[in-house]
Amino acid sequence: MQVIAIDDSYAAWREAALGALASGIAPEQIDWRVDGCDARSATPALFDDHASLPLAASAAAKVRISRDLAELLKDAALYRDTARWAFLYRVLWRWHGGDRSVASPADTDGARLYKMAKAVRRAKHDMIAYVRFRLREPGNDAPAPDLPEYIAWYEPEHDVLAWSAEHFARRMGRSTWLISTPDSAAWWNGTALRLERRTALPHDRGYPDADEAEALWLAYYRRTFNPARLNETALEQHMPVRFWKGLPEGRLIPSMISEAKSGAQRVAQARVVGVLGGKSVPVDAQSAQPVRQQPTTLDACRRCELWRHATQAVDGIGPLDARIMLIGEQPGDQEDLAGRPFVGPAGQLLDIAIERAGLRRDSLYRTNAVKHFKWMLRGKRRLHKTAAQQEIDACGYWLERELAHVKPSVVVTLGATALSALLREKVSLREWIDTPLDVDGMQVIATYHPSFALRQDNDDARERVLDAITSALARARVLADTGEERQHVAS
Ligand code: URA
Repeated sequence: MQVIAIDDSYAAWREAALGALASGIAPEQIDWRVDGCDARSATPALFDDHASLPLAASAAAKVRISRDLAELLKDAALYRDTARWAFLYRVLWRWHGGDRSVASPADTDGARLYKMAKAVRRAKHDMIAYVRFRLREPGNDAPAPDLPEYIAWYEPEHDVLAWSAEHFARRMGRSTWLISTPDSAAWWNGTALRLERRTALPHDRGYPDADEAEALWLAYYRRTFNPARLNETALEQHMPVRFWKGLPEGRLIPSMISEAKSGAQRVAQARVVGVLGGKSVPVDAQSAQPVRQQPTTLDACRRCELWRHATQAVDGIGPLDARIMLIGEQPGDQEDLAGRPFVGPAGQLLDIAIERAGLRRDSLYRTNAVKHFKWMLRGKRRLHKTAAQQEIDACGYWLERELAHVKPSVVVTLGATALSALLREKVSLREWIDTPLDVDGMQVIATYHPSFALRQDNDDARERVLDAITSALARARVLADTGEERQHVAS
């Protein structure tokens, strides 16, 4: 019997398994042991997408596996079971020996593999759905200067922390956070992810049990809970009871259910909604601006709070001597991830209008009024949220620099936000649409945002909006070519 000791990771198992295969060691001859688990790197890839197990060392075997099997092995390797490494090696051994049935659910090992992978996929889904971050209380900073802003405690059923940490790292912008689990922790410092076996519970480090973010979340949850629509079974199905303890709102659910059952249904929406206090004080957006710093790079911009939850700032793109500049509203989900404007569905529609208008996309400078993606979470999707005038004003700093740099002769604003940004006040699109105006020597044409076309519920309406955008762009082309047609002069 050969003892193979690995740390509890994909990468270690993979390397050892390839070596063992190359030496022809049969599964029953190996005693797989897991040694002390040190810091690990984030989710190392077990196999390349396609198929070939790269050689880890000169003594490693080369094994070609199907993409499906690669995915199954990757997921099953996260299944919490100390016997999993031996089992996975048996699968690989059989496959290597030409026994393809091992990857079939009809095979005993195959069925076990599928079951493990399925359980892990479920655990991944659960973790990204049920982790709740809490804002750390600023008063408890003593132990270390680099404590994260947000912390979460979660007990995953399988070893899916590394996988979900990568998901959150992509999704939470530069907010810093820590997810702690019973045996490991993931830290994100805004730029890099660190995974380690857990040494301290959040509570050991003096983290608060309840905090402002949690209080807000609870208030929000209470307010949006509609007892009139309570369906206890559906609630339990969507959010299994075993997760309630990890969720701040979990503590509220039993009492809210019982309140609902004892008559709250009659009052429908929770009462707090109706009694939200407060008095609104009209303030001019400009004068409400704090004195803001003048960052030298967009990436370092902290003029408003939107940077916190965006993946990155999205700068304008296009020739710096473009005669026409297009201004959109703000990056969407895909732009935020790609770091380039207009690459998502609205951008694709805009490309159609550009082409129909006889323009070349590459000849246009394309940018947004707001450079960070503002979003709210709906299920697992990040939905666009309209920027507040204060945020538009704060980002005007960058738009002005772009305008000064590119000096376009014609600007096409797409949607009300872009127009308001250019005119530096909140305006209605309806008032200005298709009326060429002059702003600081530039000819400006206001038209719809392409996402407005996407929101139309039938093809005809969508085409009408697209036609209007196309006409505005065609007009911009004529203006840029001739410099004519200036009808309205704005101050
Ligand atoms: N919508 C915009 O306004 N800008 C983009 O970059 C993408 C979608």
